[in-house]
Amino acid sequence: MCGIVGYVGGDEALPVLLDGMRKLEYRGYDSAGVAVVADGDIGVVRKAGHLQALVDELGATSLPGSLGIGHTRWATHGAPTDLNAHPHRDCSGKVAVVHNGIIENHDSIRAGLRSQGHKLTSDTDTEVVAHLIESILAAESCSLREAVQGAIEKLEGAFALVCVAAGEPDCIVAARQEAPIIVGAADGMGIVASGIPALLAYTRNVTPLDDRQIAEVRAGSVRIFDFEGREQSVETVMVEWSLDAAEKGGYEDFMLKEIFEQPAALRDTMRERFRSLGKVTLDEVHWSTEELARITKIVVVACGTSYHAGMMAKHSIEHWTRIPVELDLASEFRYRDPVLDEHSLVIGIAQSGETADTLAAIRFARRMGAKVVAVTNVVGSSITRDADAILFTHAGPEIAVAGTKTFLAQLAALNILALYLAQERGSMPPAKIAETIDAMRALPEQVDEVLAAQGEINRAAKRYAGARDFLYIGRGVGMTVAMEGALKLKEISYIHAEGYAAGELKHGAIALVEPGVPVVAILTGVSPLYDKMLANVEEVRARGAETILVAHPGDERARSLANELFEVPITKPLLTPVLDTVTLQLLAYFIAKEKGLSPDKPRNLAKSVTVE
Ligand code: M6R
Repeated sequence: MCGIVGYVGGDEALPVLLDGMRKLEYRGYDSAGVAVVADGDIGVVRKAGHLQALVDELGATSLPGSLGIGHTRWATHGAPTDLNAHPHRDCSGKVAVVHNGIIENHDSIRAGLRSQGHKLTSDTDTEVVAHLIESILAAESCSLREAVQGAIEKLEGAFALVCVAAGEPDCIVAARQEAPIIVGAADGMGIVASGIPALLAYTRNVTPLDDRQIAEVRAGSVRIFDFEGREQSVETVMVEWSLDAAEKGGYEDFMLKEIFEQPAALRDTMRERFRSLGKVTLDEVHWSTEELARITKIVVVACGTSYHAGMMAKHSIEHWTRIPVELDLASEFRYRDPVLDEHSLVIGIAQSGETADTLAAIRFARRMGAKVVAVTNVVGSSITRDADAILFTHAGPEIAVAGTKTFLAQLAALNILALYLAQERGSMPPAKIAETIDAMRALPEQVDEVLAAQGEINRAAKRYAGARDFLYIGRGVGMTVAMEGALKLKEISYIHAEGYAAGELKHGAIALVEPGVPVVAILTGVSPLYDKMLANVEEVRARGAETILVAHPGDERARSLANELFEVPITKPLLTPVLDTVTLQLLAYFIAKEKGLSPDKPRNLAKSVTVE
């Protein structure tokens, strides 16, 4: 949540800040602001609304100076107004701060500062930090880094803070406690950001700060300290994402581009893991076959779309390995007193690698002695420090708030893990494993076939864009697809949608069905349950619903019951979510477009949810 960028170097800072903020706007877009240090002063411009509103506000103002910070906000404390937009300053206007996170004790700090005569002008939790730094700089002769260190001693909560001071026009100070911040330096410049896409144009060797670290970033150099002021070694990770991947590349929206990048995301996620014929290679999982054999249960924890990937994984893991799988929303997991021990394997899934609840869940699991595997798309993200093994998805940067290509890549990674466990534990015959690998290898081309139907899906979207409620129903892995399809529609089109187990419908939700309500039903991959699914479709039709069916080619029974029919190629039943989901992503996307909404930046949401 919140996009942060800082730049120091030989060029004008403002264009670099705006470019980085544009790349990180997916992290928050209710207001934006910049601060540039020059001539012993800090120029600040802030504006409520999307980044474009700030650009319009800046107009011809160039805010000259070669050191600055910028912020795109996702509001936690204080409404999204000009006054609450970051950067925030102290009384003198000589210190400026941007922040992502929540400072939990800001009320008491604010009261203390006010009693010392400080004038605070916003409703945010962030502003107190600028005033704390001001107090320390006034009282002691110290550097900005030391003043930030002193200020954060007083803070409780989660934060990534980036600070500048007019008195130190060559240095940016960044600090991290449970919220991501990355720093980097190249020839003659230093850069700080809350997400990798903002740094890609300048360097691929980046240093994600660890918890309780402070960085001092200057042109060409980075120094890292802990919260006690001890200097630390600077460890860099190499980012392979291409610069183009964070651009729209001719597509109208990032979401559409990312939907179309799914074949590549699948290929890239599978390539290395299927390099030996008929076998799964998972270099990332270092446990011995004996240790893997001792696993007695698996718990999957995740949020949102990643949770739906986990729901799918429950089916394949249980079917292929016969290990029982529990599935938990990460926000609930550690509060329910779960039973875990050293024979439990916990799989934490987070495309961003920064979701606060998922991080807390896997930390809890490790404390309980469980083995933890993280599935993530972001190198250097927080989850990579908290897990015993990391399974990267190779989807490239995902900018649209709605998860699409990272979801498909997660499905691939989780199926790979399930097959690997089956292979190592001997729970699946090698020939079956080889056959499943072949089926997975065919998926990218099959996704292309689904994508080719975009015209038809767009036409159907126009027909249903006016609906108030949607129901999505499925059985088995089809239920996963229904849940994910409904979430996609809700988040980008603001239409109420529920994903439901088809068999559960008549226990309550069928009361919502009336003439005109579209019901999306997943008829693929359910062979033993196919007739039951069709019966459910008949039931909703009998109550006046319009049916949008996802079925395999040549399914005439489905066609006879469909107001709209979308065909997806045949694959193994457990792999059908990969194909069905693409249809429903396109349906949600085109409905949002028909309603004139921006699918990339849905209201109230942020790409990476770094607060609980
Ligand atoms: O980064 P994560 O995968 O942990 O994110 C979890 C959810 O916040 C995320 O999937 C959210 O539901 C997306 N908006 C889904 O499109």
